[in-house]
Amino acid sequence: MTTKILVIGATGAQGIPIVRALAEDGRNEVSIFTRDASSARAKMLLELPGVTALQGNTMNEKDIYDAFRRVDGVYCNLDGFAIGEVNETFWGIRLFEIANEAGIDHYVWGSLDYLQKKGNFNNKYRCGHYDAKGRVAEFILGQRPKSMTVSVLTSGPYMEMLYDGMFAPRTLPDGTLLFAHPIGEGKVPMIHLDDIGKYARWIFDHPDRSNGMDLEIATEHVGWRSLVENVQKVTGKKAVFKDLDQAEYFANSGMSATAPAAWAQTPGAPISGGQTFWENFSGWWSAWHDNLVTRDYALLDRILPDRVRTLEEWMRKTKYDGSFRPILKDRADMRDARRSDGGP
Ligand SMILES: NC(=O)c1ccc[n+]([C@@H]2O[C@H](COP(=O)([O-])OP(=O)(O)OC[C@H]3O[C@@H](n4cnc5c(N)ncnc54)[C@H](OP(=O)(O)O)[C@@H]3O)[C@@H](O)[C@H]2O)c1
Repeated sequence: MTTKILVIGATGAQGIPIVRALAEDGRNEVSIFTRDASSARAKMLLELPGVTALQGNTMNEKDIYDAFRRVDGVYCNLDGFAIGEVNETFWGIRLFEIANEAGIDHYVWGSLDYLQKKGNFNNKYRCGHYDAKGRVAEFILGQRPKSMTVSVLTSGPYMEMLYDGMFAPRTLPDGTLLFAHPIGEGKVPMIHLDDIGKYARWIFDHPDRSNGMDLEIATEHVGWRSLVENVQKVTGKKAVFKDLDQAEYFANSGMSATAPAAWAQTPGAPISGGQTFWENFSGWWSAWHDNLVTRDYALLDRILPDRVRTLEEWMRKTKYDGSFRPILKDRADMRDARRSDGGP
């Protein structure tokens, strides 16, 4: 029987490999939920077999009801950077309630570690874009609805952030790749994007095992000393690690101390509460620095025997060379908007 699955956040870095993985097994029809079905990323997905689009906004109940009434399953990755921590906490819960009412068979919440809780509610680890998803995960797993399978897929920083985002190196004039981050001897549980797609498909394919489950995934815990060693080994380029303290890191981050954590917020969207960018990412770096987050790699090997297991394997697979490659849609959209305003 064909299952119709709606993917919220489909056109994003995380959503694209999920749509591909679900579409390519031929048993699913996939609907991509997007604000603009004519965007380049939406059009690219619409060329895949069995993929259609439903246009809407995740903060509009009518759009969500209309979409949920047409499908059997939902994978939901809300965009915390666009809507902010407060909205993500509310809409994360509200979408789950609507899914129950609309008769969804299998609801999958794309989550992140509840860092504040894993840090024993020490404010040092408060990170709104993780905590919002983590709070919603706890809420929905606590409901145990009678007629809906509920699963959580907890990912983490994409390994692809080594191209575009928080982990990307700076290239010095002599070609050296500089990784200057406040990480110390900490390790980050990075996840390869393609494998997020495969785990999401496993969840939909195994409802008996994944019901009530919080599947916490990662490719490998990466420390910065092994990061630069691997970069040198795979690229042949010189790479160095400079361990910064957070004050120095944020002073050089290019973000002002008052900028909101919801840096990609949709113009006009209601944003209240939540943290600044500095506060949010202070909690985030502190969690990695202090190694708060663990993963059960033996379980992940059983679920996905062909998973990418190491940073080196990922670098060879993706031909990593330390240069920039666009990964995040929000960042690409903002670059395009700046260019159309005459900016760089
Ligand atoms: N960066 C990481 O390492 C990482 C890792 C795990 C999880 N996350 C989380 O993933 C989320 C962002 O997704 P992403 O990483 O795929 O980023 P992305 O590439 O920037 O994509 C953003 C996605 O969100 C959708 N979107 C934004 N605002 C929307 C709205 N108001 N209504 C409907 N859709 C909206 C966009 O769809 P349209 O533009 O097509 O409408 C797009 O699909 C964030 O919550 C982030 O915390 C990030």
